[in-house]
Amino acid sequence: MPGPKAPAEFKHLDHVLVSPPAIKRRVHALAADINRVYRGKDLTVIAIINGALLFAADLLRELRSPLRLDCVRASSYHADTNAAGALEIIDNLKLEVAGHHVLILDDILDTGRTLAAVKKLIQRKRASSVRTCVLLDKKARRVVPFDADFVGFEVPNEFVVGYGLDYAERYRNLPCIGVLKRKYYAGKS
Ligand code: IMP
Ligand code: MG
Repeated sequence: MPGPKAPAEFKHLDHVLVSPPAIKRRVHALAADINRVYRGKDLTVIAIINGALLFAADLLRELRSPLRLDCVRASSYHADTNAAGALEIIDNLKLEVAGHHVLILDDILDTGRTLAAVKKLIQRKRASSVRTCVLLDKKARRVVPFDADFVGFEVPNEFVVGYGLDYAERYRNLPCIGVLKRKYYAGKS
């Protein structure tokens, strides 16, 4: 079901799926869940960039552990909304994860390939525990069986942008999450 029509300042969007206040409320609730699980524990957060940047920035401010933060860069989409390019994960982690509790953050769980690969990478480094947290879950698209431990919102099988998510590297800065007008998806049928 299409959501509300996009406000004028988001003129490239066909409709908004998640508004800025809804994101804020959900991030707050997710943080409470995460704080309960890691209360009194050491925590290492690994954000998958670029997509998880905005989500991580907001979520981290609500986490209560004196946590450590590192990032891995992953990309699979190449200026396309559908065909995944070769999955590339650049492991330039600076932090030691062996013996630490790791929480991996990503913007969206789609086919599951990225999170499955990053989780395996961290497990191979002998972390004490590895959990995953995604803002969005597009269950219909799963290729690799994968469930995240913490999920913000389930979204329908539509390509979404905003709040860190891009189309051809644009729209990450939108404060809401929405679906682009068809004409902006270049060359899409
Ligand atoms: P997966 O490996 O297919 O689960 O894809 C995960 C990555 O694909 C995410 O981290 C996003 O960068 C990208 N992605 C998947 N679906 C969307 C979408 O609807 N909008 C923008 N990026 C997406
Ligand atoms: Mg991404």
